[in-house]
Amino acid sequence: MFSKIKNLFIVLVLFLVITQFLRPEKNEASYTSITTFEEQASVTPEIQSILQNQCYDCHSNTTRYPWFMEVSPISHWMAYHIEEGKEHFNVSKWEVYTDKQKDHKLEEVIEKLEEKAMPLESYGWIHGEISSTDAGKLIAWAKDTRAKAKEEPIVKDSLQVEETNVVATDSLTTNDVQ
Ligand code: HEC
Repeated sequence: MFSKIKNLFIVLVLFLVITQFLRPEKNEASYTSITTFEEQASVTPEIQSILQNQCYDCHSNTTRYPWFMEVSPISHWMAYHIEEGKEHFNVSKWEVYTDKQKDHKLEEVIEKLEEKAMPLESYGWIHGEISSTDAGKLIAWAKDTRAKAKEEPIVKDSLQVEETNVVATDSLTTNDVQ
């Protein structure tokens, strides 16, 4: 009996050791992938810090990786949720959404927070849960942003700025632009 448990334990340890070498691909684009979203959705520094702490890890192309997120099986579990989370809602792809989709995503943000369905409960276990104050602030921000967008449809300004920057890095065309 005892040796059975011992064998099982050894197998478990071996499994954990081996899976450390199977590293899932990281989700680590530069933070600029999020800037368009933050500008268009009027993200204040306070809201930004809550989103960074609670949402961007799974809903942007820029996940932060504290050491425990590098450890299997957490690393694999996280990679799976990142992929699924981004499929539903990815702030790094904000400019790809139509105005109607943007409005719908913000509506979903409000709903998910009100239902306490986001962040995922399991993320709270490894990471610390979102406080009800912070959840309330996100809800108020999302409602506000939807209302503002209805008054004046979200302008694609920042996207153009980004394009100009890209052009400006090419010194030949810089003169043409200015
Ligand atoms: C650990 C990863 C993870 C974190 C952190 C996380 N989410 Fe999610 N989110 C998911 C996954 C996976 C889905 C898709 C499955 C589902 O709806 O449960 C999802 C779905 C959503 C959707 C639904 C989008 C749609 O159109 O169906 C919204 C909105 C959302 N999350 C908002 C948030 C917000 C806001 C936060 C932060 C307060 C957050 N999420 C934090 C993983 C995460």
